[in-house]
Amino acid sequence: MSVGVVGGYGTLGYMLGNFVYPSGESNRGWMFVCTLDTLAPGASLDFTAPDGAKIVVARQESGETAESFLALSSVCPHLGCQVHWESQDQRFFCPCHNGAFDRQGNPLSGPPKAANQSLIRFPLKVEQGLLYVEVPLESVVPRDANHRESGVA
Ligand code: FES
Repeated sequence: MSVGVVGGYGTLGYMLGNFVYPSGESNRGWMFVCTLDTLAPGASLDFTAPDGAKIVVARQESGETAESFLALSSVCPHLGCQVHWESQDQRFFCPCHNGAFDRQGNPLSGPPKAANQSLIRFPLKVEQGLLYVEVPLESVVPRDANHRESGVA
């Protein structure tokens, strides 16, 4: 009888888990970005997720926790141009229409400000001196393309 009770709770937990964390998010995972000492305070680097998402990772403080870093989509929400971090002005800038975002990705000026469009933010974590970002893991290559390349119909 106790096996049935445990099994019932397990099923309930599974169903609740699917409700709280929808399956659409299950294709996300943590990817290595760099060692902490690679990115000096004020510096940034470009990162591309397996699904093709363009991300800029910036170190905004000298601390050694994830809170010292920020990962934002480098695709402008206005019309899709690439934004870059300008450490001298402490902002992300889009050269296409002079759109600007603060260090948290909130719109400061230009069309993104007028439309209240922020940069998409990605979660970060630090483990043993290594920085990781949580991103979509799906490849940009359609499954059909993989089948054609391998000769599988
Ligand atoms: Fe960035 Fe227009 S595409 S401001």
